Amino acid sequence: MKIMLAGGAGYIGTHTAIALIEAGHEVFVVDNFSNSCREAVRRVEKITGSEVRLYEADCCDYMSVRMIMSKEKPDSVVQMAGYKAVGESVAKPISYYRNNLDSTLTILEVMAECGVKSIVFSSSATVYGEDNPVPYTEDMPRGRCSNPYGWTKSMIEQILEDAAAADPSLSVVLLRYFNPVGAHESGLIGEDPQGIPNNLMPYITQVAVGRRDKLTVFGGDYDTPDGTCRRDYIHVMDLADGHARAVDYAAAHKGSAIFNLGTGIPYSVLDMVNAFSDACGHPLNYVIGDRRAGDLQDCWADAEKAGRILGWKATRGIAEMCRDSWNWQRNNPKGYADSEEDSDEEDDEE
Ligand code: WQD
Repeated sequence: MKIMLAGGAGYIGTHTAIALIEAGHEVFVVDNFSNSCREAVRRVEKITGSEVRLYEADCCDYMSVRMIMSKEKPDSVVQMAGYKAVGESVAKPISYYRNNLDSTLTILEVMAECGVKSIVFSSSATVYGEDNPVPYTEDMPRGRCSNPYGWTKSMIEQILEDAAAADPSLSVVLLRYFNPVGAHESGLIGEDPQGIPNNLMPYITQVAVGRRDKLTVFGGDYDTPDGTCRRDYIHVMDLADGHARAVDYAAAHKGSAIFNLGTGIPYSVLDMVNAFSDACGHPLNYVIGDRRAGDLQDCWADAEKAGRILGWKATRGIAEMCRDSWNWQRNNPKGYADSEEDSDEEDDEE
């Protein structure tokens, strides 16, 4: 099949492009590079030996999306174009609602116009909100989200389910990501956040490579065995394989379906720190600090449904997650800014 990857130049998108190409699909990317770069897609081409056509366009721009989709006529869209920084979403809610909802609505309108009948959406475990008990199952109701980013995911899920209910020829798959970490084993692509990382793993790798002084562990007094929060970390290549399964599922099933993409295994922040120290061969400098506002103590998946229906299961463990994150960061201490074209970019130090 021919797949349009909206927002496909980013961390999840580039890894997903590899999984889709390896599964035999043709992929093209639409991205406005608001939090990504061309070099990442060039490296996907290097890894796969396949051409990946790249359109620089904002998915909120109806005319651009229509021009691209009517020219390419994809069989399916994977929609990952969106802002994703939780803290920033609290400071700039209107921008988050505008961008994340608008990009999806625009894509849906153009899909209807061009006769594209299948969409896979990058959702998040954050839609389970604050009240559901772990492990999360897909049949639990969407909960109260603690930030606008989470609400955009929750609202878009609702929009897509309504669209599928109204059009019996439409296929919608909602993928609820848990905590993606790791990188492609080549070390050529990986997570490259702008500025100070919000998420745990890129913060850890930047401490390990000497870009940051120390990690602050957000809270050591939770009701968990070591006092730190527990999450369901999933290797990004496992997550990418989940998209390949989801695209096949959408091609064969009308209506909407939800799948958790997690391992079902919780690890604490200190578990991750220790596993990463093993992977990089030296202790990681960290301190225990205050809790971070909005953090849940526990968040992990029941991954049974994706196994049963998609035939998908995460296969890479915590050691591989840390090894591959480290391999990427060690080979690219400044991320893609290390590459020739982007070498004049500033590194944003604390
Ligand atoms: C993981 C754990 C922190 C940084 C968020 C979004 C979610 C998804 C992924 C993405 C927590 C702790 C972190 C640090 C720390 N969205 N931590 N020190 O909060 O589980 O999920 O990112 O696009 O929707 O909510 O991920 O990586 O920020 O945190 O101790 O410097 O690491 O408290 O327990 P989170 P995270």
